[in-house]
Amino acid sequence: MSFEETDTVTDVAGSAAAGSDVAGSAAAEPDVAGSAAPVPNPHATAEQVEAARHDSKLAQVLYHDWEAESYDEKWSISYDKRCVDYARDLFDATVPFSEQRKLPYDRALELGCGSGFFLLNLIQAGVARRGSVTDLSPGMVKVATRNGENLGLEIDGRVADAEGIPYDDDTFDLVVGHAVLHHIPDVELSLREVVRVLKPGGRFIFAGEPTNAGENYARPLSTLTWRAVTNVTKLPGLSGWRRPKAELDESSRAAALEAVVDLHTFSPGDLERMAHNAGAVEVSTATTEFTAAMLGWPLRTFEAAVPPGRLGWGYAKFAFHSWITLSWIDANLWSRVVPKSWYYNVMITGVKPAAS
Ligand SMILES: C[S@@+](CC[C@H](N)C(=O)[O-])C[C@H]1O[C@@H](n2cnc3c(N)ncnc32)[C@H](O)[C@@H]1O
Repeated sequence: MSFEETDTVTDVAGSAAAGSDVAGSAAAEPDVAGSAAPVPNPHATAEQVEAARHDSKLAQVLYHDWEAESYDEKWSISYDKRCVDYARDLFDATVPFSEQRKLPYDRALELGCGSGFFLLNLIQAGVARRGSVTDLSPGMVKVATRNGENLGLEIDGRVADAEGIPYDDDTFDLVVGHAVLHHIPDVELSLREVVRVLKPGGRFIFAGEPTNAGENYARPLSTLTWRAVTNVTKLPGLSGWRRPKAELDESSRAAALEAVVDLHTFSPGDLERMAHNAGAVEVSTATTEFTAAMLGWPLRTFEAAVPPGRLGWGYAKFAFHSWITLSWIDANLWSRVVPKSWYYNVMITGVKPAAS
């Protein structure tokens, strides 16, 4: 199969926006893909949110457009050594050691790039030379492309649906994604698309996907934290820790969409089966974060519930170092006794069969 790229970009963006009035924000703006591209819509109204409750792809666009400009801050994403090392560690923990001799891959693609955390940092870590960042959310593509340009990387960006990747067969040496598969309705279809656009012998790696078991402890801990912080800060004397009502309302509206955009959790075995069905070979999975996730999720929720800038550097250092320490304990101690499937994050890699 081959794609007429520019047409498909417009189609994909149109269907991502569900062709509804709500998505009528998808007016042409020649900045992201270099051709007519949909414009980010960062302020969804209550009516738009209501419409998106029944349309998961529209919800993805509204929710992630809303988050795009503050995404790096919200998730403490950076493009310095801290996150470059983190991205490289995920790659090294997932991909067999023998693959190192192939680095850097020449041309890489990221699906569901968000602000570009994974691919931009993998390029900086020497995993790939150049890349294409894609996402269903125009706001995210805009931020990722801008981040790549600011870093001086060879990057292009495009609004694209991972279920119909707008590139020709056999185009990329590497396809990556972080925290994206659980948002895609038909994961196996998307993996088939990944295999299609990879060159024979090319590799994919997806990291940061929630496990079935991990979701059972992470989400309840987050919900409890949100309720505790938003109620405790109503007490007299704690108003300085309370976010303005309008901001909390906007967060609640976005949180309502979160339930619509988070579609799956996985067991490592499920993911491996889907990748095999999609035509991949040399498939394997790894998992990370057990106690680190039990700390990380409440901390992130706490950060979102209080006014931005209220916590300061001391807190940020404490949070980061606590998380690193627990991650080390999870990788080196808990891994001896806790089953792999109990960890919070699962990562998968595989290869497109070489041409026979
Ligand atoms: C949780 S965010 C992760 C962003 C980034 N990869 C990261 O790890 O920081 C998921 C991203 O996937 C995108 N997404 C959701 N469904 C998608 C789809 N069908 N095709 C492409 N991107 C999608 C969202 O717009 C969002 O930017």
